[in-house]
Amino acid sequence: MRKRILAVLLVAALFFGLAACVGGSSAGSTSGEGDGPATVKVGVSIYKFDDNFMTLYRTELERYMEEDLSNDSIVYDVTVVDAKGDETEQASQVDQFIADGYDVLIVNLVNDEAAAPIIDKAKTAGIPVVFINRQPNVAGDMEIWPGYTTYVGADARQSGTYEGEIIVETDNQGDFNGDGVVSYIMIMGDEGNTDAEYRTEYSIKALTDAGLTVELLDEQRGHWQQTEGYEITAANLTKFGDKLEVVFCNNDAMALGAMEAIEAAGRVVGEDIYLVGVDALAEAVTAIEEGRMTGTVLNDHNGQSHKAADVAAELAAGGTVDTFYWVDYQKVSGD
Ligand code: BGC
Repeated sequence: MRKRILAVLLVAALFFGLAACVGGSSAGSTSGEGDGPATVKVGVSIYKFDDNFMTLYRTELERYMEEDLSNDSIVYDVTVVDAKGDETEQASQVDQFIADGYDVLIVNLVNDEAAAPIIDKAKTAGIPVVFINRQPNVAGDMEIWPGYTTYVGADARQSGTYEGEIIVETDNQGDFNGDGVVSYIMIMGDEGNTDAEYRTEYSIKALTDAGLTVELLDEQRGHWQQTEGYEITAANLTKFGDKLEVVFCNNDAMALGAMEAIEAAGRVVGEDIYLVGVDALAEAVTAIEEGRMTGTVLNDHNGQSHKAADVAAELAAGGTVDTFYWVDYQKVSGD
């Protein structure tokens, strides 16, 4: 008999203990233990760890929440997981965060068109979601649960425009051989990705808006990866030789690959070819200082990760937020 009472007490203690820990199945709830600080569990799913820019972003996001935002009364416990470029993997990570009673989710979508199922599940569980870096790309997604879902990012049109302007601002405006035409290749990020689409379109629009005539020699997806940037550029240098005057890349990782190919082919940036990217990765900024890249555009991972964290904290505290938050890009060129 005594044994049974003990067992009942144990189960009850376990249940209430767990309930106190889990705490957050409704929007904005946090969990605390007695007088100690309340713990806010933040679940972060990154589309792919193997991405230079997102590595900087996620590292700073975690550091900022755990070190700068946490204080004596509130502690942000951040769990960051790798979706490995797999949409199904990301869906199950989100399911797990929800099952584990996380207070707020931060999601870097694998598939920009797959936000709705995530929002639907989060809404049912009452757990707000902050989307970062890859903008949900289906009209109406951000209206499913307004106030509790938001996108924090940068307006990719601006980065594209800056890339194009860097070329317009060069002495020969991208026309080395003086034939009145800027002959270029475009190395793009993932298909359907808003950043990739806008950077591709607006970089060239900046040239045509400035009255320049352009000729597209080749356009290919390098999937944000350095190795692919190398391969695409190498193949085009072999095919087009001196005719190729400008290499536009949707990001710096691909531009760094392009730079290796340009140098391997004996071409010289600034003397017979131009090369631009986006992100302002440290390696790219150094390359610009050394004259090995023409320019890049700062994709402010500090500003974006801090804004995403602030907004997540606001949501976890029970607040409502705007649908979009934009962080500015900045032009970086050798001039
Ligand atoms: C960045 C890329 C990055 C991509 C990931 C873009 O905003 O510029 O470098 O690979 O996001 O989705």
